[in-house]
Amino acid sequence: MKALIAIFFLFSNVNLAHAEVLEPTFESIDRLVFQKTCTDCHYAGGDGKRVLLDKNSLLNSPLELVIPGNPDESGLIISFERTDDKRMPPEEDGYDALTPEEISVIRKWIEIGAP
Ligand code: HEC
Repeated sequence: MKALIAIFFLFSNVNLAHAEVLEPTFESIDRLVFQKTCTDCHYAGGDGKRVLLDKNSLLNSPLELVIPGNPDESGLIISFERTDDKRMPPEEDGYDALTPEEISVIRKWIEIGAP
């Protein structure tokens, strides 16, 4: 019986590890959103005109991509919520919009100061 319980916990932990939940930290957003969807186009050494999505670039961009405490005016959030052909990720290239849940976690990250 003990062995069965041990096996159960072993597998439930494995499952938990796989069901990664997006959290309002740069590391989580980077791993679960940027690296999955955005770095197809936004990567260092690519088209030099594209914005980079590392934390430093986001916080120091002249485009004010991330203004800590102010998601409404942060270019990153605006790029997700706009409805024209500049929405990120781009619909014309076959990308679905981020989900409202994803956007709300990224908003939260900016709201709490973009740690
Ligand atoms: C298919 C390629 C592609 C993908 C995928 C993509 N982008 Fe972009 N992104 C672009 C291009 C091209 C531009 C420049 C567009 C322009 O200014 O017209 C851009 C511009 C931006 C900008 C600057 C917006 C501004 O105000 O000028 C941000 C922020 C951005 N992308 C974030 C993202 C994020 C975050 C993702 C993933 C969720 C993403 N992009 C996915 C191609 C892409």
